[in-house]
Amino acid sequence: MLNVPNHVAIIMDGNGRWAKKRNMPRLEGHKKGAITARSIIKKSGSLGVRWLTLYAFSTENWARPDKEKKGLFSLMVKSLSEELPLLLKEGIRFRMIGDKKDLPEGLIKIISKAESLTKGNRDLNLSVCVNYSGKNEIVKAVNKMLNDQYHLEPGSKSSSQGEFTFPKIDDLDFKKNMHSSDLPEVDLLLRTGGEKRISNFLLWDIAYSELFFTETLWPEFSEDEFCDILSSFNLRDRRYGNV
Ligand code: FPP
Repeated sequence: MLNVPNHVAIIMDGNGRWAKKRNMPRLEGHKKGAITARSIIKKSGSLGVRWLTLYAFSTENWARPDKEKKGLFSLMVKSLSEELPLLLKEGIRFRMIGDKKDLPEGLIKIISKAESLTKGNRDLNLSVCVNYSGKNEIVKAVNKMLNDQYHLEPGSKSSSQGEFTFPKIDDLDFKKNMHSSDLPEVDLLLRTGGEKRISNFLLWDIAYSELFFTETLWPEFSEDEFCDILSSFNLRDRRYGNV
């Protein structure tokens, strides 16, 4: 029987190259990519994957041309508005991970709406990383701990609580302070599009992930290939440093 990974995370790469091969604007690749995302979300739900996390826009993606960024954000608003009924019907809880600040107002609105309307859903936890950086997330967690627990402001030399002893913090305590605190560790990390790198994605939670890379460009990635990858995941011997 297929032992389905609890948490699958995907770097959806190759939209631009898919479009370029067809002499189309890059945005057409992203549009086709959004259709792939829809089918993989549905398939994950039906296979019993509990957590699916998709990388949609990194902090590094701000370097892209304005036209592409604007098009991507509009596409996210459109997809999320259109797919809200599907999220509700399929029992999918939606979360956005990343910094909402700097995103267009319309996008922040629909994200907040989807997050609040799907809050009670329990079948599949879908997280979409937008304006996300794995390094920033870790640094922010450190600042949050210093600020919330010890009232230390950046640059301050002492706490408003006076003297204190900094306690020993373990990785569970640390994780509680991350934006992705609800997300469990990633079991299977997949990147499409042929590149073999992590690109600042979920650095904390991929410590013991099984990594999968495929040459397939994201717009062409199919449910069948997804199932093949889940089957290969089953064959991996996960020893977590043990023998
Ligand atoms: C990477 O391909 C893809 C992105 C930066 C955007 C991903 C966004 C979507 C699939 C659409 C929205 C998704 C949701 C879930 C609403 P690339 O542009 O870097 O491709 P390239 O490497 O071929 O240039």
